[in-house]
Amino acid sequence: MPKMMLPRLALTALCAFPLIRGSALAGEVMRFKSVSVELPQSDRAFPGGHEAEAVNNNCLACHSAGMVLTQPKRSKAEWTETVNKMIHTYKAPIDETDVPTIVAYLASMKPQP
Ligand code: HEC
Repeated sequence: MPKMMLPRLALTALCAFPLIRGSALAGEVMRFKSVSVELPQSDRAFPGGHEAEAVNNNCLACHSAGMVLTQPKRSKAEWTETVNKMIHTYKAPIDETDVPTIVAYLASMKPQP
């Protein structure tokens, strides 16, 4: 087969795909029905009581604690970078004076499943 034929074959296959699907569905009436969906809930907070206060106060507004607790271990420098990303990129209203406490907590965290 000449090389030039290949792209054309691929294109033909792509174009035929919706036709095949379309004909399989032909005759069926499309019906919509209501479904109920249960979204996962998370009331998990950061463990550690008083030491976790700064993290619990600053890091649960936009996502769950799980988003943070399930991360692999990071150094203080890496956590500082992450916290700064939350502040500057995602506009997290975190007091700059809380950052060292938050970073110390995060760096001492054990990775969780
Ligand atoms: C203003 C909203 C907001 C707040 C408050 C916030 N985050 Fe986030 N965070 C996000 C968004 C949006 C994402 C998802 C985007 C992404 O994965 O980079 C995210 C993702 C993450 C992730 C996973 C992605 C990564 O970069 O590792 C970590 C870890 C994280 N946040 C940690 C924190 C910590 C720690 C705090 C508190 C100091 C915090 N977040 C507070 C918005 C926020």
